[in-house]
Amino acid sequence: MPDHLPRRHVLRTAGALGLGAAAAGALTGPADAAPTATTVASMGSHHGRLSIRKDPFGTTPEGVGVDVYTFGNGRVTVSMLTWGATIQRVETPDRRGRTENISLGFDNLPDYAALSPYFGATIGRYGNRIAKGRFTLDGRSYQIPVNNGENALHGGTLGFDKKVWKAKVVQTPSAVGVAFSYVSPDGEMGFPGELTTTVTYTLNKQDDLRIDYHATVAGKPTVVNLTNHVYFNLAGEGSGSIDGHVLQLNAPSYTPVDEGLIPTGEIAPVAGTPFDFNRPTAIGARIRDDHPQLVIGRGYDHNFVLGGKPDRDGLRFAARFWEPEGGRTVTVHTAEPGAQFYSGNFLDGTFQGIGNKSYRQGDAFAFETQHFPDSPNHPNFPSTVLRPGETYRSTTVYSFGTK
Ligand code: GLA
Repeated sequence: MPDHLPRRHVLRTAGALGLGAAAAGALTGPADAAPTATTVASMGSHHGRLSIRKDPFGTTPEGVGVDVYTFGNGRVTVSMLTWGATIQRVETPDRRGRTENISLGFDNLPDYAALSPYFGATIGRYGNRIAKGRFTLDGRSYQIPVNNGENALHGGTLGFDKKVWKAKVVQTPSAVGVAFSYVSPDGEMGFPGELTTTVTYTLNKQDDLRIDYHATVAGKPTVVNLTNHVYFNLAGEGSGSIDGHVLQLNAPSYTPVDEGLIPTGEIAPVAGTPFDFNRPTAIGARIRDDHPQLVIGRGYDHNFVLGGKPDRDGLRFAARFWEPEGGRTVTVHTAEPGAQFYSGNFLDGTFQGIGNKSYRQGDAFAFETQHFPDSPNHPNFPSTVLRPGETYRSTTVYSFGTK
């Protein structure tokens, strides 16, 4: 049925879904929704039905409750935590219709708090690295606590990935999901200005998981670079190496890094190097080449400068990953100028994930759409400065499919 034809929307109560009384009592939703309604379904369609539910997930040591929202369209199901506005699970069918979780994560909150290398988390206030945690803005110097050698990574020691976000259900006739908000006080992690961030995750009937970022700052100008750090293995989480995944990456150049993975400032062409994925190539095909940048990164851990023009909703095609055996694909479109392609180099098998499997080096990839790392210290990179009165807006879409 085409999307513009009317659909019948059926509200179901928590009771009808078999949710426990505690979960039903704690439900929150948009102001205009029935207080006990947790699931909205669009019936009478071959596109699947949209649904969302909320369950308790855990409690922080400070006593703050963390929830898990699970939303789906009948084919793809996404679970997200209010802890870090984190994508916990993404279940998609393979070519033969076998549904599996393809996203790395944990089944409990203590593991997220103690062990997670940013699995699925929303990253802020500044995604990726700031050299020595230092930058100046309008002549004033700022220091972010360092947490990655001598550098600050992903917002410092207590970034947005370790905060409990407020959540609000979003439901339209064609999409369902959650809007997560967090207010970061002036001076938190050393960053100037009070930053109000809303990141809205929605799944539509075409299997697109859309992430809309929105932020404003009050009091002082600041720097902002938001992303999501979901790790995928398209053969299923915990199923082994992603070396055989085929990647097409729309990037004519990348930003080479020093030993601390800080960009040198150079924008280097990928042509003739193992960084050229403009034609679909297996991730593992050249990952052990003796290119000095692959040695420094222990594989791919680099910001790619995206090419081409926006081709869809103001977004440009950034990358497509394909796992040839099961046939799953994920295609990324973004408004961002760059993306960190990370081949899971620091996974070292020291803990088990959600499916009780160890994650080893190269068992997953992350594709973190972003402004370039350390931009506050590189005037030649696109600016990450946000001033009071301005609005930060960005969108990234992960589209799931099979081939
Ligand atoms: C980013 C960084 C990597 C690594 C991961 C998290 O992708 O670029 O170096 O720190 O986050 O482990």
